[in-house]
Amino acid sequence: MALERTFSIVKPDATRRNLTGAICKMLEDGGLRIVAQKRIQMTQAQAETFYGVHKERPFFGDLVSFMTSGPVVVQVLEGEDAIARNREIMGATNPADAAEGTIRKTFAESIEANSAHGSDSAENAAIEIAYFFAGCEITG
Ligand code: CMP
Repeated sequence: MALERTFSIVKPDATRRNLTGAICKMLEDGGLRIVAQKRIQMTQAQAETFYGVHKERPFFGDLVSFMTSGPVVVQVLEGEDAIARNREIMGATNPADAAEGTIRKTFAESIEANSAHGSDSAENAAIEIAYFFAGCEITG
């Protein structure tokens, strides 16, 4: 197993319901360390660039609107196999498909308002971390 870093977002549906702490606890209880974190209001330009890979998808406009509808908490998580581990802790994108005990099964309201984002690969983790954090803001 390798020590990795991944990028995470506590989404607006979760910050609105004051679930940031509950979600952080699930991440920490799952073996991940929060090595950087900040609460921000994402701009439309930031959301469009961040989700640029989904630009042609029918849900892109709604996704950008949702991600800019309230504050989010962006995070860098560190741990053994952190990318896969975080995705296990979050559960499937659609809460209807997510396993019991996962963040999305427990908290998500819909496939869009699904409470958490996590990088899907090492390559994207590096891109997403660099998009929101300077190296000096990350400390293990
Ligand atoms: P996330 O992991 O942040 O990455 C892309 C997001 O698009 C995903 O979580 C979902 O919240 C959102 N989304 C909205 N509608 C859909 C859909 N129909 N299929 C997949 N993802 C969707």
